[in-house]
Amino acid sequence: MTISQASHSGLESTVSGKALVDEKYNYNVVRQFSVMAVVWGVVGMAAGVLIAAQLAFPALNDIWQPYTHFGRLRPLHTNSVIFAFGGCVLFATSYYVVQRTCQTKLWGGILIPFTFWGWQLVILAAAITLPMGYTSAKEYAELEWPIDILIALVWISYAIVFFGTIVKRKTSHIYVANWFFGAFIVVVAILHLVNSASVPVHGLKSYSAYAGTMDAMVQWWYGHNAVGFFLTAGFLGMMYYFVPKQAGRPVYSYQLSIVHFWALISIYIWAGGHHLHYSALPDWAQSLGMAMSIILLAPSWGGMINGVMTLSGAWHKLRTDPTLRFLVVSLSFYGMSTFEGPMMSIKTVNALSHNTDWTIGHVHSGALGWVAMISFGALYHMYPILFNKAKMHSVKLINLHFWLATIGTVLYIVAMWVNGLIQGMMWRAYNDDGSLTYSFIESVEASYPGYYVRALGGAFFLTGMLIMAYNCYKTITVVEADDAQPVKA
Ligand code: HEM
Ligand code: HEM
Repeated sequence: MTISQASHSGLESTVSGKALVDEKYNYNVVRQFSVMAVVWGVVGMAAGVLIAAQLAFPALNDIWQPYTHFGRLRPLHTNSVIFAFGGCVLFATSYYVVQRTCQTKLWGGILIPFTFWGWQLVILAAAITLPMGYTSAKEYAELEWPIDILIALVWISYAIVFFGTIVKRKTSHIYVANWFFGAFIVVVAILHLVNSASVPVHGLKSYSAYAGTMDAMVQWWYGHNAVGFFLTAGFLGMMYYFVPKQAGRPVYSYQLSIVHFWALISIYIWAGGHHLHYSALPDWAQSLGMAMSIILLAPSWGGMINGVMTLSGAWHKLRTDPTLRFLVVSLSFYGMSTFEGPMMSIKTVNALSHNTDWTIGHVHSGALGWVAMISFGALYHMYPILFNKAKMHSVKLINLHFWLATIGTVLYIVAMWVNGLIQGMMWRAYNDDGSLTYSFIESVEASYPGYYVRALGGAFFLTGMLIMAYNCYKTITVVEADDAQPVKA
């Protein structure tokens, strides 16, 4: 086939000097999602730094009221980092992994580009409606009903493409990474359909189909499993593919990965009650949430150990390979946040941590340390392969990104732990006569040093992300010498 024929049949990509002709897999959609993952990563993290700065310097809230107020930008941050950045990484890696491990091209025709363009439309709609103040007020499910319908359509198409490709596979078994991606896709569909059920009152306003405590319970069943399946199961799918690939070693234990899978998905779904301790939720449901959260430590650590032990015999590679370092350090943060989470779910500990910055520290040790870092590792692994290059433009810049991200994460989470403990202790301090020792505003004042450090940590993390964007851009656009061999996947 000539190049011009190839371009007509959609098989050629002109992203670089070298044409990518007649690919064995459909990498086009993977490339699209990988590029947008980096773009949305920059946008979402910049929004994070801005809201962190607003908490440290409240005058920043006044810039362009009401659109840039913290209350409106906060959901913009969470939606853009979780669903735009995280979502694009998940789409890219799942499409990449399912094709390679099933030895077949993606199945689904027009539905494949629909998942890409539909998802970008969802993100755009979120970026417009959230600053304008349109929200269902359900955390991580803020988008209004017409956007919810679009999400459902994209997600169902995603499921058809993913499982259609599995059905069409040329291999006899289904590699474990696909089990995790599959569970993530199915459970997120169920969570979204149940939690977003609502009664519309006009084009951009609706009320939840549930009332009172039921509404809170459904919301946190959703919220917690959004963590468990969107921010964990899908990223574990990445771990099972990219850690062995980058380390050049087989998965430490395939048996353990199967036990890990079934234990994780059957326990996660029961743990949401820990978000509603000391609330109107029946006491037994809170205790069930606590018990299941503590049990969850076992499969979480089983998975982490399986990932880390995959490096047996390849530890020396960490010295020279910053991509592998991203992947391994992400597993350490995964282990840390899945130890901290079960501890915070114990009612007496939660009495101290709830509503304080400790929760924010926990969130970001998972979000920055685990989710973002494993995403960086996976993207750095895929970019040269997707764009037919010998290597990333600069390994030194990957190394710089690694250190900025690690130092940024540590500054962020340590600052929030200290703040959380200060706030929790101040709020529960009583005088002998039973009155509160501190007013609320005194606890806010005491939090300022932590807010400055967090903003600084966020700035480190964002700088690393900008360096990654530059490195990826250069990797795509550089014209390599004719004798440069594309990286072996
Ligand atoms: C440069 C990096 C980042 C910075 C500076 C940052 C900053 C912030 C700030 C200031 C808040 C609000 C905290 C509050 O209300 O007190 C927040 C919330 C949140 N961020 Fe980030 N963030 C960053 C990256 C991320 C990433 C990559 C993710 C997910 C993958 C993420 C997920 C979240 C979530 C889920 C919340 C809500 C937490 C809760 O309600 O408990 N963030 N972030
Ligand atoms: C075994 C695993 C885990 C358990 C048992 C767990 C448990 C908890 C608990 C008890 C809270 C505090 C609830 C409250 O006081 O309101 C919490 C909050 C949170 N966790 Fe985890 N966690 C786990 C892992 C993770 C991971 C890996 C991530 C991120 C990737 C994460 C993201 C979050 C978020 C976003 C919140 C804040 C929810 C909100 O209030 O908006 N968790 N988690």
